[in-house]
Amino acid sequence: MNPIDYLRISVIDRCNFRCQYCMPQGAELAYGLRQDWLTRGEILALVEAVFMPLGFTRFRLTGGEPLLRPDLVDIVADIAALPQTADLALTTNAFLLEKLAQPLWDAGLRRLNISLDSLDPDTFATLIGRSGVGWHRVWAGIQAAHRVGFDPLKLNVVVIPGVNDHEVLDLAALTLDRRWHVRFIEFMPIGNGDLFADAGWVPSEVLRQRIGDRWGLTSGAVRGNGPADVFQIPGAQGTLGFISQMSECFCDRCNRMRLSADGWLRPCLLNETGQLNLRDMLRGGMALADIRDRVGALVTAKPEINFKMRESGTTGAYSRTMSQIGG
Ligand code: GTP
Ligand code: 5AD
Ligand code: SF4
Repeated sequence: MNPIDYLRISVIDRCNFRCQYCMPQGAELAYGLRQDWLTRGEILALVEAVFMPLGFTRFRLTGGEPLLRPDLVDIVADIAALPQTADLALTTNAFLLEKLAQPLWDAGLRRLNISLDSLDPDTFATLIGRSGVGWHRVWAGIQAAHRVGFDPLKLNVVVIPGVNDHEVLDLAALTLDRRWHVRFIEFMPIGNGDLFADAGWVPSEVLRQRIGDRWGLTSGAVRGNGPADVFQIPGAQGTLGFISQMSECFCDRCNRMRLSADGWLRPCLLNETGQLNLRDMLRGGMALADIRDRVGALVTAKPEINFKMRESGTTGAYSRTMSQIGG
C-alpha cells in the first residue's frame, strides 16, 4: 500500500480571483473569519508533533490563494527549517508573486505550482472573473519566480472545452525553450456544477494525441508528489504533465491528506467521509499525542475512504468548493 506522507495545508480560504471552475459565484459569502484560521503556531505544532511523527515528510501550502495570508513567509520558514521536511511546495495564482518570490525563496521554498489557464489576457480575465491587469501581473509573477530560481516551476492548466482547449498547443509550446513544466488537468465537477454541466471535460489522451501529432511526445520526468503522468516534446527543455482524475483512477496510489485553513483534516478530495477538526481539538485543549492518535487512526482508515468510483462521476454534493480545499 502507498505510504500516506504528503499533506496539503490550506493556509487561507480567501482568493483574489473568482475562477469559474474553482469558486462558483457567491462562494466568497462563505469565507470564514480570520480567527477561524489555524494560526502559524498551530500549523507548526500540527506539522511537527502530529504529522511528522506519523511519517508525513512532504508538504504543500495552498489556499484559497496562499499569498494573501499575511504571515505566509513565516509559515514557510517554520516548515522549511524542520529537518524532517523532505519537500515543501506552494500552489498559487501568482498575482502577488512578483514581490513575494524572493522572500519565499529566502524562507526556504524551492518549488512552485502556478495556475495559468490561458495565454490570452481576455480569456484569462473571463476565466478568473476579474478584468484589467490580471494576466500581465500573473505573467510578471511567473517571470520573477523563474529569475529567482524556483525549480521545478510548474504551470497548471485546467482544460475546459470551448474556453481554453484551443490553446493547448500554445501552452505546451512554453516548454520548448524554457525549463517549465506545463500540466493539463482534466476538469472536475467539484463545487462548480453549472460550468461543468455546460462545458464537460477533455480526456488527457485527446490532448496527448494533439500534441503528439504536432511535435511527437516521449515519456519525461520531473520531481513531484502528485498524480501527473509526465511526458516531453522531443528536445524540449521542460515537460508536459497530464492529471487525469476523470479518465483514470489514481486513488490506489494516493499519498495525501488535506488540512483546511479552519483545521479540518480531509482524507480524500472527493469523499468527505471521516473528516476531523484538528483546530477544535487543539483549542479544546486536547494533548498533541491524543490528536496524533486520532489522525493516525484516520491515516489507517484512508484506503477504505479513498474514492474509487470514478465511473460514477464526482457529482456528489460537496460541502466545500475547490477554492476552500486548495485543489
Ligand atoms: P506535485 O507535487 O508538484 O506533483 O503537485 P500536485 O500535482 O499534487 O499539486 P497541484 O496543487 O499542482 O495539484 C494539481 C491538481 O491535480 C489539483 O489541483 C487537482 O486538480 C489534481 N489533484 C491533485 N491531487 C489530487 C487528488 O488526490 N485527487 C484528485 N482527484 N485530484 C487531484
Ligand atoms: N478541476 C480540476 N482542477 C481544479 N483546480 C481547481 N478547480 C479545479 C477543478 N474543478 C486546480 C487548479 C489549481 C489547483 C489549486 O486546483 O489547477 O491550480
Ligand atoms: Fe486520493 Fe481521494 Fe484523490 Fe483518490 S480522489 S487520489 S483517494 S484524494
